[in-house]
Amino acid sequence: MAECVAASEAAIARAGGLIREGKLVAFPTETVYGLGADASDDKAVARIFEAKGRPRFNPLIVHVADAQAAEKHVVFSAEAKTLARHFWPGGLTLVLPRRADARLSLLVSAGLDTVAIRVPAHETAQALLKAAKRPIAAPSANASGKVSPTRASHVMESLGHSDLLAMVLDGGACRLGLESTVIGFPQGIPTLLRPGAVARAEIEAVLGRRLADADAASGEAGRASPGQLESHYAPGAPLRLDAREAGPDEVLLGFGPKAKSSMNLSASGDLTEAAANLFAMLRALDATAGGKRIAVSPIPMEGLGEAINDRLKRAAAPRG
Ligand code: TXA
Ligand code: MG
Repeated sequence: MAECVAASEAAIARAGGLIREGKLVAFPTETVYGLGADASDDKAVARIFEAKGRPRFNPLIVHVADAQAAEKHVVFSAEAKTLARHFWPGGLTLVLPRRADARLSLLVSAGLDTVAIRVPAHETAQALLKAAKRPIAAPSANASGKVSPTRASHVMESLGHSDLLAMVLDGGACRLGLESTVIGFPQGIPTLLRPGAVARAEIEAVLGRRLADADAASGEAGRASPGQLESHYAPGAPLRLDAREAGPDEVLLGFGPKAKSSMNLSASGDLTEAAANLFAMLRALDATAGGKRIAVSPIPMEGLGEAINDRLKRAAAPRG
């Protein structure tokens, strides 16, 4: 059972410590309440998916205190800078190329080369970012498929029973109550990936040009919207799933105590640990496979196993 506390200075300081320990803390932003975790900690990020019961690893928004902090993680184009200057702090999320040296969990961007990033305006969110001294990954703090929470009581109703959620910071009702607007730049074209708290017209006025539509855009722009994305991440090496052992031309990505493999998603068979390791291990094996195929041990379809299998299936899907 999560504890729900008023967002006092002392409570925020404690919440910052919990984030640094890899725990989950729900906190208010001006849009909706977020379910936050240290964005640089794979295991902490995996716990978000576990707590939400997400059927898939959707990429998450990384929250930072200001644009300068964002620059450590992503690369800004001139237009992205303009939008950040006008709308941050606030209800706008920018999807930008991930920096090679970004110290963020790979799970945060679900294997994509981009990171969704935003500077929240809410004073509690700002204070928490300062107390935690970490970038905070946070989807809306509701169970998967449920409406986003705009009050601490909504969070308690939806996720309060979860042992994974350590604390809910109560900062009253959210000012915007609608999730942030998500803008990406596929092929350099500013594209509305999700309508939200900042209206399209405001953004178009600042940019001096129209935004492309993610769903209307067939082809490249459309493909950048993860909702429609067939494969978030496909390694270069082909994948064989549900493999009991590796053949002579294969390396094995194992799961569980019995797997004789070069890499093991979780030797103890822990699905949360496996989720945290998934993208990083696929990348590492891909880099060293040297023309070999990656065979993957069977992953049970329980808990995060469903999401892991979904992601593996996409990665193994035939490519054109
Ligand atoms: O207002 C909000 O945005 C709230 C607060 C907590 O900040 N967060 C939120 O997160 O709504 P979530 O996870 O419910 O929605 C994140 C959206 C999804 O539509 C996701 O597909 C998109 O952002 N997104 C995240 N990373 C992306 C990426 N790398 N490329 C494209 N879209 C991305
Ligand atoms: Mg959501």
